Amino acid sequence: MEKFVNQPLKSRSFFTVPLSVLLATFATALGAQSVEAAKPMALRTIMERLGRDMQAVTGAISKEDWPLVAELAPRIAKHAEPPMSEKMRILAWLGADAGKFRGLDGQVHDAATAMGEAAQRNDGQAVIAAFSKTQQSCLACHQSYRRSFVEKFYGSR
Ligand code: HEC
Repeated sequence: MEKFVNQPLKSRSFFTVPLSVLLATFATALGAQSVEAAKPMALRTIMERLGRDMQAVTGAISKEDWPLVAELAPRIAKHAEPPMSEKMRILAWLGADAGKFRGLDGQVHDAATAMGEAAQRNDGQAVIAAFSKTQQSCLACHQSYRRSFVEKFYGSR
């Protein structure tokens, strides 16, 4: 038994132990990090979806696939909303700015709706104009609120 312990295994365990300690340290660090980092807000998932749908519209415009634009536009206009509890947190944080925030979301709604209507008329120019208006509304909200939102709800960046 003693012979077994003192044989080559010993030198192997010399590496094995520190490695496992190292791994445990990493695991602890990772664990601590994921506890520290706030879990993603539902709004982020909604935004990612909006981003993908806008990209899909760009592709559809390039192909002059107006039926596809007409299908995508209402998804952008009537995107999902965060659950009530998250909405309350966001509105509480916005305070007096809630109206402006909602207004920018309303601009996205109106511009995307116009884009869908233009697509139904196969009016490429109007689709592109409305697409631009939609994107400007996305940008306006991001420029006003995104950084402070991330700082508030994720405590970083
Ligand atoms: C009323 C405000 C508002 C409007 C309008 C808005 N966004 Fe956002 N968007 C946000 C906020 C706030 C964040 C940060 C969310 C987060 O990090 O959890 C964000 C983040 C994003 C992100 C990054 C998500 C990530 O994974 O970090 C994308 C992509 C995005 N928005 C796309 C869009 C698109 C496309 C539109 C327009 C069609 C749009 N947004 C309109 C407020 C808005």
